[in-house]
This record gives sequence, structure tokens and C-alpha cells, in this order.
Amino acid sequence: MTSTVPVVTDIAYQDLLDDPYPVFRRLREMAPAVFVESARLTLVTRFDDITRIERDPATYSADNPASLVNRVMGPTFMRKDGAEHAIGRKAIEPSFRPATIKEYWAPKFTAIAETLIGDLSAADEADLFAALAAPMASLSLLAMIGFREMPWQILAEWSQALIDGAGNYAADAEIERKAMQASADVDTAIDAALELHRSNPNPSILSSMVNADPQMPIEAIRANIKVIIGGGLNEPRDAILTLVLGLLENPVQKDSVLAKPELWPSALEEAVRWISPIGMYPRRVTRSVDLSGAALPEGLQIGLCVGAANRDGSRFADPDRFDVTRPKQSHLAFGAGPHFCAGTWVSRLTVGKIVAPMLFERLRNLRLREEAPPVVRGWVFRGPVSLPVRWDS
Ligand code: HEM
Repeated sequence: MTSTVPVVTDIAYQDLLDDPYPVFRRLREMAPAVFVESARLTLVTRFDDITRIERDPATYSADNPASLVNRVMGPTFMRKDGAEHAIGRKAIEPSFRPATIKEYWAPKFTAIAETLIGDLSAADEADLFAALAAPMASLSLLAMIGFREMPWQILAEWSQALIDGAGNYAADAEIERKAMQASADVDTAIDAALELHRSNPNPSILSSMVNADPQMPIEAIRANIKVIIGGGLNEPRDAILTLVLGLLENPVQKDSVLAKPELWPSALEEAVRWISPIGMYPRRVTRSVDLSGAALPEGLQIGLCVGAANRDGSRFADPDRFDVTRPKQSHLAFGAGPHFCAGTWVSRLTVGKIVAPMLFERLRNLRLREEAPPVVRGWVFRGPVSLPVRWDS
């Protein structure tokens, strides 16, 4: 039997920002798709439904001229389907090749981590958000994009403003103003850097774009770089912090990972399943369709809550628990289908093989500070915004 999409009016937007997981559970149990008034969006929360949607891009399109990402960043390949998407994706591919990651990026990212963690060694406490994860993610992405001699804080500010704008489902005017300003500033920085990368080909993303596809219009270059600034900084930052948080809150698991370093990759996968840095992304329904018994009309905007799917009890046992020993099972934190995250392997390397192992190895007896508990926030994008820790100097 097919039913219309139910409407929920009693969820405050602040509840989603503070802790979306009780809301996600309620929506998952209620129906395959539910319109949440405060989010102004129909949300899909079940693992199998999102997987099915991502296998059918003709029915569930990433292309949506009205999407907030397009509004803030311009016509990016992340919000295109088929050939148009493939052109943009192919243009950045040289920077993400496994050999380039291993031989070119890994030594650079290791050097960045060594400097930041080396600086921490002089103290005995810090907030890992500002002291490690934010600069680590920002400096790595500055290098990957090919922006030179720019303070990491600038890229971090642009990234935050752009993703706040892309997640501005409550239509806050100040968030929109900051996002549009960041967007204009990124355009200026790209324009200033392009000639250097055109005349000196190198593994950076700007260089890949201008040299792999010399015909790519400047609007597409700008929009695609903004997607990478929005998608390539806060997510690895949040993944670093979530992984560290999960381990510090579960000392037995932490000890087993430290005793068996081969567990680091599973620990990273578990961290992004447990608290997915991108909790929701949108798709547009291109024809009237039945989704597991829910009638979705043509043109409907839906939000795929991968953060909810990654805690779907029909797929993951005891899903709210952080458990690095859970049986290996694919999750949706890096998306699925044609738009599967381009930065997956770079993130697996940076977070799971470089930063987190080095942090625990160099800072002895790393632990949470009881008097300053961590703060985790967000639902479209989610992660610790503060992670105060202490260690033995
Ligand atoms: C733990 C870290 C990360 C997570 C959890 C993550 C998650 C995701 C997700 C869920 C998507 C799909 C979005 C959609 O379809 O709307 C995506 C796409 C994307 N990500 Fe990531 N990401 C991470 C790191 C990175 C990094 C470091 C980069 C670049 C340096 C990056 C670049 C991209 C790009 C370019 C896309 C668009 C792909 C396409 O449309 O074909 N991501 N990411």
C-alpha cells in the first residue's frame, strides 16, 4: 500500500542541531520519508532506502538549480548528473590518484601533522579543535587546492561560511550574507592563482582543473573549488575529532587500537559511521515514485540523512554505540553512487593513518578533561566543536 508523506510539526530546529539522533530514530520508525516542518524538507532516514536512491540517479537527481549549494557556490559538478557531473569529476581526478596520494600528499600531510603535534608537546592541555584538527585539515586542503601563502584561518573561515550557507535550511539572512561574501573572496583568490598553475603543472587540484580540461569555464572552476573548500575541510577536521573522542570515551577500545595499529582503519570507519561529518545531503525526485510504500511526487526535494542511516538498527547492531570491533560492514558516511566522496582515500590516509595514530603516540596518556566536557553540534554537518584534552608532559 502506498501512503502520502507524513508531516511532523513538533521538532524544533534546535533539537536537530543539538542532537539529531533521537529525531532520526523517530523518523526512521515512522515512515520511509517524513516532511519535517522546521527543516522545510522531506527526510529519508533508512539505510536500505538511501542505498536504493543512490543507485537510481535518473529518479533521484543530484541536479537541482534551486539547491542551497548552487545558490551559495554556483553551478558545481556535485549538483549535476551524468556527463556534466563526469566532466567536473574527471578534471580533479589527477590530484586524487592513489599513487599521487601516497607519494606526493602523504609526506606533505605527515610534515604538517608533525609540526602541529610537535607544538602541542610543549604544553599539557589543549582544545584539539583549534590546536590540531582545524589547522591540520585547513593546511592540508590549502596544499591540495594549490593556494599558496595563505593563513589556514582564512580557508577555515571560508569553508565554514560556505557550508553554513549550504546548510541554511532555516533561511537565516546573516548566514547567507557571510556565505556570499566568502564565495566572492574565493573567486578573487582563484583568479589570482590560476596563471601560476597553468604555467607550472603540478598535482594540486587547481592545476589538475586548468590543465586536464583547458576549456572548463571559469564559473565551473570557481564553483567546483568552493565545493572542495566546503567539503574537504570541515569533514576531515570533524572526522579527526570524532575518532579521538570515540577512543577517549572508550579507553578499552583505545588500548586495543594502540596495541594493534592495524585497527586504525576500522576505527576511522567506525568514527564516521557513529557521528557522520555530513549528516544529510539533498536529492530531487524527477518522477512520481513509490519509495518503500511512500508516494513521492515529481519535483520533491528530499534530504538523504546518511547520519540516520548509519545508525539504522536493521543494519548495525547496537547502532548508537562506538565500537571499533564491530563486524566490517559498509556505511554511507562517504555517500554512495556517482557522487561517492572524491576525498575518501585522502581522508582515510590523513585521519586514520597519519594524524590520529601520531597524536596518541606522541602525547602520553591523552585523556578528556572532566571539568570541560566536549561539545558536539550540527545535523547537516556534525562534529565536535570543542574537544578539550590533557596529557602527561
Ligand atoms: C572524513 C572526511 C569526509 C567525509 C565524511 C566526506 C563525505 C562526503 C559525502 C557524504 C559526499 C556526498 C555528497 C553529495 O552527494 O551531496 C562527498 C562528496 C564529495 N567530497 Fe567528501 N568527505 C570527506 C572528505 C573530503 C575531502 C578531504 C575532499 C577533498 C579534498 C572531499 C571532496 C569531495 C568532493 C569533491 C565531493 C563531490 C563528489 C561528486 O559529486 O562526485 N571530501 N563527501
